[in-house]
Amino acid sequence: QQQGLLGLAFSALSSLSNTVGYYAGYECNWFDALKLTNPVFGFYLSNYNDGDDGEVTFGGYDATKYSGEPVWFPLVNTTTDIHGIPSPGWWTFSTKGWSWSVSSVNGSIGGSLFEENPRAIADTGTSYLILPQDVLNSILTILGATFDNDPEVQAIVLPCNNTLPPIVLSFNGTDFSIPTEFYTIFAGTTTAGQNICVPGLGAASESIPLIFGDTFLRAYYSFYDKKNLRVGFAQAVHPTSVATTATGTVTGVSSATKSSPYIAPTGSVTGILVSSATKSSTAAVFILYLVFSVLLN
Ligand SMILES: *[C@@H]1O[C@H](CO)[C@@H](O)[C@H](O)[C@H]1NC(C)=O
Ligand SMILES: *[C@@H]1O[C@H](CO)[C@@H](O)[C@H](O)[C@H]1NC(C)=O
Ligand SMILES: *[C@@H]1O[C@H](CO)[C@@H](O)[C@H](O)[C@H]1NC(C)=O
Ligand SMILES: *[C@@H]1O[C@H](CO)[C@@H](O)[C@H](O)[C@H]1NC(C)=O
Repeated sequence: QQQGLLGLAFSALSSLSNTVGYYAGYECNWFDALKLTNPVFGFYLSNYNDGDDGEVTFGGYDATKYSGEPVWFPLVNTTTDIHGIPSPGWWTFSTKGWSWSVSSVNGSIGGSLFEENPRAIADTGTSYLILPQDVLNSILTILGATFDNDPEVQAIVLPCNNTLPPIVLSFNGTDFSIPTEFYTIFAGTTTAGQNICVPGLGAASESIPLIFGDTFLRAYYSFYDKKNLRVGFAQAVHPTSVATTATGTVTGVSSATKSSPYIAPTGSVTGILVSSATKSSTAAVFILYLVFSVLLN
């Protein structure tokens, strides 16, 4: 469950843009108030089987949490963008030239939504990877996702045994591969003892843009650069490679997450200008206020 909002996008999104602070139910531009020499931050999100904590770093990035060089994307002018927010507002980048593939099927990312200027936002506050509806449908079909009609479930499900192929998003020859253990979300166990997993994917709509949410951001460390107005991604380094199991069980999921497929990004806060008092904070950290959680009841 989210405990608050830590606004890390641009002040155009803030309800209290002149207020310094954080949370209190609003996004505030406290990040600017830190007056960091290097006005950047980076996110590592733990994968739920890893047992480690997520981490946000201010004033720099944590090189132990990613490998390779980040691939950068300039922010696009969002004047005509999502919900009429002036630019810059969200961490919005163009998805022109992006494509997707699963197994040997391949298509573009853009879709009918934002046809003239296809773009997405990077957002730790969104649990899932939000794709155009047609792309989502194609991917779910290829993955063999089925609707589980059990009255206790009533949801589109995937096998829990991490046997599915990765979802690959590509840009200009760079592949961003999301292995099955990152997009297969453990949602709980039925009273009959059956583990239920759901795809960590959602569909964009008129009111919901394409979003590179936690499903993507667990697999890729994300770089937010306010100075150069760009966002970047590099392969996240997780403490262990997650063992795939053929038994159909998912281990390492705390009881807190069992009631919901939403995996809260818990973890420490590191970096300059952050006191040790805040380091123990396990408050969920969100960039924006779009939070998607799907409860299986
Ligand atoms: C975005 O585009 C609008 C319209 O072309 C322009 O007025 C505005 O200055 C631009 N903003 C930025 C930050 O580039
Ligand atoms: C899909 O095909 C195009 C054209 O052949 C290629 O440039 C792109 O890299 C492919 N995308 C993926 C995700 O494989
Ligand atoms: C695509 O990759 C080439 C070769 O690395 C690079 O020169 C070019 O700037 C890239 N294009 C974009 C749009 O990123
Ligand atoms: C994985 O789970 C699916 C659905 O539960 C099952 O059909 C498949 O045989 C399992 N694969 C392995 C390798 O256990």
